[in-house]
Amino acid sequence: MRIAVVPGDGIGAEVVPAVLPALDLLGRAFGLDVRYDVFGWGADEWLATGTGLPDGALDTLRDEYTAVLLGALGDPRIPDMAHGRAILLGLRRGLDLYVNYRPIPLPSGDTIQLFRENTGGLYSGVGGTVSRGTVAQVAIDESVYTRDTVERFTRYSLARLRELGCRRAVLVHKANAVPNTGRLWREVYYREAERFGDVETSDEYVDSFCYHLVRDPARYQAVLAPNLFGDIISDIGAALMGGLGLAASASVCPETGQALFEPVHGSAPDIAEKGIANPYAAARCLVLLLDHAGHAEPARLLDRCLDEAMRTDARTPDVGGHGTTHGFMAEVTNRLAAATGDGRSAA
Ligand SMILES: NC(=O)c1ccc[n+]([C@@H]2O[C@H](COP(=O)([O-])OP(=O)(O)OC[C@H]3O[C@@H](n4cnc5c(N)ncnc54)[C@H](O)[C@@H]3O)[C@@H](O)[C@H]2O)c1
Repeated sequence: MRIAVVPGDGIGAEVVPAVLPALDLLGRAFGLDVRYDVFGWGADEWLATGTGLPDGALDTLRDEYTAVLLGALGDPRIPDMAHGRAILLGLRRGLDLYVNYRPIPLPSGDTIQLFRENTGGLYSGVGGTVSRGTVAQVAIDESVYTRDTVERFTRYSLARLRELGCRRAVLVHKANAVPNTGRLWREVYYREAERFGDVETSDEYVDSFCYHLVRDPARYQAVLAPNLFGDIISDIGAALMGGLGLAASASVCPETGQALFEPVHGSAPDIAEKGIANPYAAARCLVLLLDHAGHAEPARLLDRCLDEAMRTDARTPDVGGHGTTHGFMAEVTNRLAAATGDGRSAA
C-alpha cells in the first residue's frame, strides 16, 4: 500500500501523525508492505505560495498511490476556506471520488451506513456573485446533478449496502421544495432499486428524516443522500455516535479504486495545539483504509483495540476522558502490540 498522507491544518496535523505508528505496527505484524509519503498541502503552503494542490499532484496520486489519508483543512487566517476548496474539492473531483461512505456506529451496537454523493449538487462550483459589497449584491450557487452522476452513485451505494448486510435503504431529498434535482434522484433511485429486489427501498424528505434520525436512529439501516444533505446528516450521525472526534469517512471512485480517507471533523481551531484532539476518527480512517485495501484482519483488530481503548480513561476530554491525543494512541498501540506479539509498540 502506498499512502499519500496529507495532515492538513489545525488538529488534522496532530491526529494524523499520531495514528501512523498504529499502521506501522499492523504493517509489521501482518506482513503488509505499507509505505507513505507526507504532503504539506494546507493553509501554510497556501499563504506562502498561493498553491492548494500543486500542478501534477492529481497525476502523481493516480499513478503512485493506493490511497490518500487526509487530516482536516481550515484555518482562521483563510476565512473563506479558499485553500480547503482547492485541495479537498480538487481531490474529490480530480480523482472522481464520487461516493462518500460514512458509517455511523450507534451506542446500541447497530450501524447506519450513510452514502453521500460527493461531487455534485450544491458543491458543483456553479454560480457567482455580482455587485459584491453593494445593496444590489446577487449571490448564486446552483445545485447541479446529471442523470449519470446520480445513476452511478445510486447503483454503487445500493450494491455496497447490500454487501454490508443492509436490507432497508432510504433516499433523502427535498423534492417538495427543490423539485428538479429531487425528481431526478427519486426516479433514478427507484429505477436502480429494481435490480436489488431484496432491499426494501423508501424515500423521505430530509427535514422529516433528520427528525426521525435523532428520535429513533434504529429506524434506519442505510441512507443515500445528495451532497449537501449527506454532509449535514453525517454531523448528526457524529453526534449520535458520541462526537465529531469519532466519525470517519471514505471517499471512493469504485471504477478506479482510488480512495481518500478523512475524519468527518474539521481543523478545530478551538482545541488546536492543546494535545487533546481525539485521534479516534483518524484511526478509524485506517480501519476503513485497511478494509478498502482488502486487509480485513488487521482492520478488525485495530477496530477492536480502538473500542477497548475508548473504554479506558485514556480517551480524550471530548468523550468524557482525561487523556491526550498521543496517550490515547499509546493505549491503542499497546493493545495492538499485545495482540500481535509486536515488541516495538509506539508507547
Ligand atoms: N473536511 C474538512 O477538512 C473540514 C470539515 C469540517 C470543517 N472544516 C473546517 O474546519 C474549521 C473549523 O470548523 P468547525 O469548528 O465548524 O468544525 P470542527 O469539526 O473543526 O469542530 C467543531 C467542534 O467539534 C470539536 N472537535 C472536532 N473534532 C474534534 C476532535 N477530533 N477531538 C475533539 N474535539 C473535536 C471542536 O473542538 C469544535 O468544538 C473551519 O475552517 C471549517 O471550514 C474542515
